[in-house]
Amino acid sequence: MKIRQSQDADRLAISAIHTSAFGPEQGPEIVGLVHDLFEDETAKPLLSLVAETEARLVGHILFTVVKLQPELKEISARILAPLAVASDVQGQGIGGELIKAGLQQLADSGVDLVFVLGHPDYYPRFGFQTAGVLGFAAPHPIPTEHTDAWMVQALTADVLGRASGTVQCSEVLNQPQHWQA
Ligand SMILES: CC(C)(COP(=O)(O)OP(=O)(O)OC[C@H]1O[C@@H](n2cnc3c(N)ncnc32)[C@H](O)[C@@H]1OP(=O)(O)O)[C@@H](O)C(=O)NCCC(=O)NCCS
Repeated sequence: MKIRQSQDADRLAISAIHTSAFGPEQGPEIVGLVHDLFEDETAKPLLSLVAETEARLVGHILFTVVKLQPELKEISARILAPLAVASDVQGQGIGGELIKAGLQQLADSGVDLVFVLGHPDYYPRFGFQTAGVLGFAAPHPIPTEHTDAWMVQALTADVLGRASGTVQCSEVLNQPQHWQA
């Protein structure tokens, strides 16, 4: 399996991965979200990686720009959303490889912080920790029972002591419907 940056020609295959992973109910919404994020100027620079086997694309991960409010211009931050692995190949480490490759590329390009709203049993194994207690609020309130799903990871030293605030996502991802449990 190879992990590489996605290209325009991959867009249909990427949609198929999200449809497969998220199922018929949630899939179309996620496909729409990914499409809109690709077009969203405020999401850039985005990092879009695909996992490719000899036969087909099997996984996709997207990182888009976020800002902290009050603004901290010297802090560079991203959010991981969404991540999907085709349903027939889940549980083989592909999701983990995409996360690790993405974090490595972001670290290499000087990004300080990466946020995610996701499964609290999954993301901590890749270095994410609960964001709220570290002083980072989500763009929209997270229900108390899901507090630990809002997570952050520092990619540069001592940034956690310097940065805090409310995370503002790109125009598309900041819409409230993407933050409902
Ligand atoms: C979540 C997902 C991306 C993980 O990718 P993957 O390639 O299957 O995951 P990996 O093989 O790297 O890791 C498998 C581990 O993830 C865990 N995992 C998978 N989905 C999980 C979930 N919804 N909640 C908690 N843990 C989950 C598995 O239990 C497994 O744990 P184990 O190693 O202790 O057995 C993939 O299952 C998927 O696309 N799911 C549907 C879409 C989705 O929920 N996306 C994430 C949105 S935050």
